[in-house]
Amino acid sequence: MDFQLKTLSVAQAAAEKSDVLIVLVGSAPITAKDALSVLAASARKAGDFPDKAGKLLALYRPDEVVASRVVLAAVGDGTPASVRSGVIAAVNAAKAHRPKRVVVVFAQPAEAAAVACAVTAAADASYVYTATKSKAEPRSIRALTLGVPDAAGVRKAFDEACGTVLGIELAKEWGNRPANHATPTLLADVAKELAKLPKIKCEVLGPKEVEKLGMGSFAAVARGSAEPLRFIVLRYQGAAKDEAPVVLVGKGITFDTGGVSLKPAAEMDEMKFDMCGAASVLGTFRALAEIQPAINVVGLIPSCENMNDGRAVKPGDVVTSMSGQTIEVLNTDAEGRLILCDALTYAKRFDPAAVIDIATLTGACVVALGGVRSGLFASDETLAAALQAAGEESQDRCWRLPLDDDYAEGLKSNFADVANIGGRAGGAVVAAKFLQRFVGDFAWAHLDIAGTAWKSGAAKGSTGRPVGLLVSYLTTRARNGNADGASEKAATDSAAPAKAPARKARSAK
Ligand code: BES
Ligand code: MN
Ligand code: ZN
Repeated sequence: MDFQLKTLSVAQAAAEKSDVLIVLVGSAPITAKDALSVLAASARKAGDFPDKAGKLLALYRPDEVVASRVVLAAVGDGTPASVRSGVIAAVNAAKAHRPKRVVVVFAQPAEAAAVACAVTAAADASYVYTATKSKAEPRSIRALTLGVPDAAGVRKAFDEACGTVLGIELAKEWGNRPANHATPTLLADVAKELAKLPKIKCEVLGPKEVEKLGMGSFAAVARGSAEPLRFIVLRYQGAAKDEAPVVLVGKGITFDTGGVSLKPAAEMDEMKFDMCGAASVLGTFRALAEIQPAINVVGLIPSCENMNDGRAVKPGDVVTSMSGQTIEVLNTDAEGRLILCDALTYAKRFDPAAVIDIATLTGACVVALGGVRSGLFASDETLAAALQAAGEESQDRCWRLPLDDDYAEGLKSNFADVANIGGRAGGAVVAAKFLQRFVGDFAWAHLDIAGTAWKSGAAKGSTGRPVGLLVSYLTTRARNGNADGASEKAATDSAAPAKAPARKARSAK
């Protein structure tokens, strides 16, 4: 889908050639005197178009409008959240007519984050999965023009949002593909394709190399599958070579049967989504290639199937992780942490500024937070705050959960240094405590996306989350001179421009 940004009033948008015109109307009084604005004002006054984000009023061939269909969409206070729900409702309504060209116009001034959310929301609502359907109708919308009162002021946010959409859609696409169309080898091929884009490099390790590295925990999970494991290493270099990278680690279980601790049959198909953490890392790299922020990022993806087989790891088996810690595998279905722990150990070699792992890790997190917010765990306050803020800005929200040591009590083992499960209570935190044992001397955060990475039921499908959050976090960090929160660099820039930047990373340029 092609996005375009233009300075347009409602009257000018009405003169644009399109199949559907969507007018985003906020709470402020509607004062413009063009036909559509007058109509919106009178509908609101009459109570037919309430001022609540997501409320719609559909019009057919109204006066002075080129498009035959117009949808007025309320966006309330104009915050990213309200704009997102207004745009999603309007595009969903417009979709039925299979429009090719759509114009979306803000009737009021629009903040940068709201414009970005309009772009990602329109893409979200119009995405169609086609890869394994023989007669699928592709997405009807070819071109979307976004009209705002001042295009120049929001151009950068708009461009970044367009890059983010490419990343979200890559993540959705690979999340949605069935496990026999998204094997570890195929995920590695996606990473190799990404390495053709500017500033991206990729290296793929196979079973022999992983064995040699001593990743006995990761290798144990892969043992039960005929599909060979892959360890994918992606690098995006947007800053000076010596600048410490942010490392993203994505869980890439392409199918989770539970292994010998077999899962029940109901909804087991959804365990094809167990590589959505990996897909979010791939998607983030797609967006980085487009946006080109001044930051270095490493992506690590341990990927394999978790299968039941004669060679499969068994409950009670003790494996040795790359860190040297031995792990008693009490439940083979707690496999995500077994592959992530070795990737976290591997992350140390990059001397990272921060490490963020992203994983569909626990059913307990689904119970705790549902599909609204991802679970956020962090060993570092600034990193936690930056990720939380990125989630709000991109409307790809998360919520922080605790990491008290008491939660690790149940992980004690009689036969190894640690067990891979604790009790059922607080299961999302117990899993995070397990991971924390493998975290080195760097700021670390863990995003449990078990509830947010895909939707079940009639709308079953990948959401592309948390690509929006990650891209927003990384671009903000790049703007802050590779620091979380307001950096010295950012502070000096605004307060006293004459002062020399204090950060080593900057002076290296
Ligand atoms: N991939 C699952 C987590 C999951 C479950 C995500 C349901 C989304 C929906 C993970 O590998 C798993 O099986 N976790 C177990 C851990 C348990 C054995 C300690 C779980 O959550 O039940
Ligand atoms: Mn599992
Ligand atoms: Zn899993």
